[in-house]
This record gives sequence, C-alpha cells and structure tokens, in this order.
Amino acid sequence: MDAIEVGVLGATGMVGQQFVSRLARHPWFRVTWLAASERSQGKRYREVAPWRLATQMPGASAERVVESCEPGKGPKVVFSGLDASVAGDIEGAFAAAGHIVVSNARNFRMDPLVPLLIPEINADHLTLLDEQRRTKGWPGAIVTNPNCSTVVLAMALAPLRVFNLRAVVVSTMQAVSGAGYPGVASLDILGNVVPFIGGEEEKMESETLKILGSDGGRSPYAAVVSAHANRVAVLDGHTMTVSVDFHTRPSIEDVGHAIRNFSGRPQELWLPSAPQPPIVLMDEPTRPQPRLDADLGGGMAVSVGRLRSCPVMQAKFVALGHNTIRGAAGAAILNAELMHAEGLL
Ligand SMILES: NC(=O)c1ccc[n+]([C@@H]2O[C@H](COP(=O)([O-])OP(=O)(O)OC[C@H]3O[C@@H](n4cnc5c(N)ncnc54)[C@H](OP(=O)(O)O)[C@@H]3O)[C@@H](O)[C@H]2O)c1
Repeated sequence: MDAIEVGVLGATGMVGQQFVSRLARHPWFRVTWLAASERSQGKRYREVAPWRLATQMPGASAERVVESCEPGKGPKVVFSGLDASVAGDIEGAFAAAGHIVVSNARNFRMDPLVPLLIPEINADHLTLLDEQRRTKGWPGAIVTNPNCSTVVLAMALAPLRVFNLRAVVVSTMQAVSGAGYPGVASLDILGNVVPFIGGEEEKMESETLKILGSDGGRSPYAAVVSAHANRVAVLDGHTMTVSVDFHTRPSIEDVGHAIRNFSGRPQELWLPSAPQPPIVLMDEPTRPQPRLDADLGGGMAVSVGRLRSCPVMQAKFVALGHNTIRGAAGAAILNAELMHAEGLL
C-alpha cells in the first residue's frame, strides 16, 4: 500500500510534537507538511518546536520548513493540534477547502454534525459525515477526539452501559503536560495541587454523554456526570477516581467482568494504534499509577484498578490514561486509522 500523505496543523505544540513523533513510524501515514503560527512560519521545525518528548525528533521533520496554516496547501488529510483560540476558524476553512481535518481541539467537539469519536465506543458516529457535508457544504470534513480526561472516563464507562448507568462522580488528578508548553508555572504546581482547570469539568460532563449517546451523539446518554478537575505535579498521565450508580444492580464481579472483556472496532480491525486490550483491569491495590502505567499499550490503553463496592453509589474505581497520547495525538491517529479502514479518507 502506498503511504497516505498527511499534514499537521499546530505541529510545534505539545500535541503537535506527539503527532510528529508517532506518525514518523506509522505504517500507513507519512508526514509531508507541517504548519503552525506566523511565529514559526518559514523556519525549520527543529528551530521552532520546543521538543519535550523523550524520543528524538524525527530527522525528516526536523529539517522540514514550517508553513502557514493556509487551506488548500498541504495534503488532503491533516491532523490538528492547534490552539483552541484559532482552531475554530482554521479547521473550518480547511474543511471548506476539501481537507479532512482530524482534530484534537475543542472547538467542533459539541457540534451536532461533527463526530466526537472514540473508535472503541462509537465508531458508528462516523455516519454523521454525510450529513455534515450536505448541511455545511464542506467538500472536506472534521472529526474530533475528546478532551484528554474525558477520553479516560468515557473508556472506563463504556463497558458499564450494559448496566444502565444512572450517575457518575469523578475527581481528576491531571498531569502538567495537559496544559501545553510552558503550561503551569513551576511555583504554582511543585509540591502543590491546583483545584481548578478552566472549562475541564464542563467538558467532562457534556462530552462524555455525547460520546456514549446514540444518533451520532445527538441523543446524549441519559445519565448525570459530576466532575471535579485538579492539576497535580505529575508529568504525563491523567488519573481519576470514579464512583458510578446504575439503574440495575450488578455485582462487583459483573462490573469487573464487563470491564475486562471490553473490546471494540479498532481491536476487531487490528488497527495499528489499537491497544489489545483497550482497558487493562488491575488487581494490585496500589495500581494504576501514572509513572508505571500511563504508557501501557503504547500509551493507548486505559488502566482501571481498585474496583470495589461503593456505600453511596454502587461501584468505585481508579482510571488512568496517557493525556497527550490516548488523550490527544494517539486518539486522533486512531480516528484516522478507523476512517481509512472504513474507506472514509
Ligand atoms: N496537551 C494536552 O494534553 C492536550 C490534550 C487534549 C487536547 N489538547 C488540545 O490540543 C490543542 C493543542 O494543545 P497543546 O498542548 O499542544 O498546545 P501548545 O503546546 O500551546 O501548541 C499550540 C499550537 O498551536 C499553534 N498556534 C498558536 N496560535 C496560532 C495561530 N494564530 N495560527 C496558527 N497556529 C497557531 C502553535 O504554533 P506556534 O508554535 O507557531 O505558536 C502550536 O503549534 C489545544 O486545542 C488543546 O486544548 C491538548
């Protein structure tokens, strides 16, 4: 198979760097175009990307000259790690110019015509694309992935839909890499917890129900979600404690069985980025931990542990996922893999 050429919008940012790194060794996609702001335009990638990954900057991208985010330039398929302040206008203009935008930004996530995709959960939401094209008049398309903490929560809840979820209370402990670079000031976060992340709780509460919902997410899942978001002094990996209540009365063993046996379309299709299994259920009482478990499944698996009965709700557990991989670039790449497998690229 010939490689599919792809571009990256916002290639110099934290998420953009993950795109560049992960796509460099991708079996289907080949990066041929990098774009960012005027600040970076015309300069070599290695001069303007403040590389913060433990892996080396891929040689081909290092020497590539960064271009402006001009629609019509670059390949048909573009990944977006753009800052939300500009992503709305730029991504819309790219879709209008015929590009397929696989985005990580929040701007279009709650648009009723834009899939908010987690391929293990709602691969069928891609059927929205026909209506998106008809209604918006775009020859291209936009597909989004969720916020970095939402994806972890939604993955942990997806197997539990069989018990008819009624209510969810979640408290996060979110890594600093989720705030981009330079992110939170060291004096604010070292030896500290910041009990506020702007807009995060609202995103977790609304995006989760769209993802788990039906009719492409236009009928949100009928449960209530209450989120508390905290920033902690962790580099990578969002951890969260979750309590859940159901309309039915499953045993804790039933809940564990459902989580352990969860699988989805990416696993069935053996997509290159699909973690096998997508959720790792851990028995050790001290797991999952971000330093030990965020990289499971190449950073694409969600780990769940400390599953036990809850005296207020019915069950409670801890969930963890890698925020810049499963919560950002890796999620978008998995979305594109699914689209390619379904003949939509
Ligand atoms: N970090 C995470 O874990 C995470 C997780 C999920 C979702 N997200 C979302 O992903 C997006 C990127 O996050 P990030 O952490 O990578 O942010 P970041 O490090 O601040 O990077 C932002 C990128 O946007 C580009 N940009 C800024 N203004 C621009 C403009 N006017 N025109 C064109 N490009 C412009 C920047 O280019 P220059 O370098 O040239 O300025 C840079 O490439 C955001 O929407 C964020 O909410 C982040």
